[in-house]
Amino acid sequence: MSLIKACLFDLDGVIVDTAKYHYQAWRQLANELGFDLTLEQNEQLKGISRMESLDIILAIGGVELSEEEKVRRATEKNARYLELCMQMTPEDTLPGVRAFLDELKHRSVKIGLGSASKNAKVILERIDMLSYFETIVDGNRITRGKPDPQVFLLGAEDLNTPPANCAVFEDAVAGIQSAIAAGMLAVGIGEKSVLAEADIVVPGFVGFHFSDLGD
Ligand code: BG6
Ligand code: MG
Repeated sequence: MSLIKACLFDLDGVIVDTAKYHYQAWRQLANELGFDLTLEQNEQLKGISRMESLDIILAIGGVELSEEEKVRRATEKNARYLELCMQMTPEDTLPGVRAFLDELKHRSVKIGLGSASKNAKVILERIDMLSYFETIVDGNRITRGKPDPQVFLLGAEDLNTPPANCAVFEDAVAGIQSAIAAGMLAVGIGEKSVLAEADIVVPGFVGFHFSDLGD
């Protein structure tokens, strides 16, 4: 019998590749302000809330804006981001995700979402994945962003599962730190060199099985 009774998934970059759309929309904002945003700099934004991401970007460009202007720019970025997301279909779900979630359901392992995004439900609906999740903890619900453990602790509570019996799937450094701080098994989706703190790192879900989480 496995120790893991619940799996909590990040959304962007784990269930669906929206990271490229976030990057595209942020890059356009940076360009409008007169500087560029590299893919490497974008890595720092993964898992980070919209307003915190904007602050990081403005610091990169050495640009200062009033609070009002920041809200305006962030709203604009979000509209652009959502427009890009609306091109997505269920086929944009990352490879292997559906099969892995089906396996979890088959094994009666609980499934939850833990995302910093305020757009989580819209995006899950768009790719027809909403019905998989017994709970959704998103950016509208949390008061402390990743790397704080709040998002995953709330998810575990909703699923009535002690943190030690939860696994978290994350593509962001901040998200892995959040999972570790919550006392959960941290599974990195991506590169080992980036997600070095994770307990396990895999490039994606293709060929990944529940038994790979250990006993
Ligand atoms: C995270 C993304 O999932 O959500 C971040 O990794 C993003 O890049 C954050 O900034 C907030 O998303 P949204 O959709 O509320 O702007
Ligand atoms: Mg992510």
